[in-house]
Amino acid sequence: MSRATVPVTLEVNGETWDLEVEPRWSLAEVVRSRCGLTGTHLGCEQGICGSCTVLVDGDPVRSCLIYAVQCRDSRITTIEGLAAGGDIADLMEAFSIHHGLQCGFCTPGFLVLASAVLERDPSISDGDLEEALSSNLCRCTGYYSIIKAVRSVRDQTSAC
Ligand code: FES
Ligand code: FES
Repeated sequence: MSRATVPVTLEVNGETWDLEVEPRWSLAEVVRSRCGLTGTHLGCEQGICGSCTVLVDGDPVRSCLIYAVQCRDSRITTIEGLAAGGDIADLMEAFSIHHGLQCGFCTPGFLVLASAVLERDPSISDGDLEEALSSNLCRCTGYYSIIKAVRSVRDQTSAC
């Protein structure tokens, strides 16, 4: 049985996408299956793990919890957009140096989240940083290394 679709125009990573989507489709499903941006990972699909984090108008959002049709007038940035723009080069390097990833499944979500957290508060305190990053889950439990990596970027940035 075919389901009704509606037209939606999304701005993803600065590119305009004219799409036909079912109203029930999440933003995560659409960026992955329709835009081919599979760096946004789907883990729990119920708002817990944060693996699907993208930026919507600059704010980190769990894209499994928001419908694509709700993002009509918004600017969406995925991990691919951040990486291509060079915005997270320092975070990516720090994750590598400090072993902030193991299987890598949670990594895009953590990078998107960390970039937004540091953008909002470049000299964020250790406690606030840990609290902000605690919203995402890592099944490989590499939390200490992730925190260390993000802290090192904060320290470089705030020292400038
Ligand atoms: S897949 Fe969206 S929060 Fe887990
Ligand atoms: S590195 Fe494997 S889930 Fe985080």
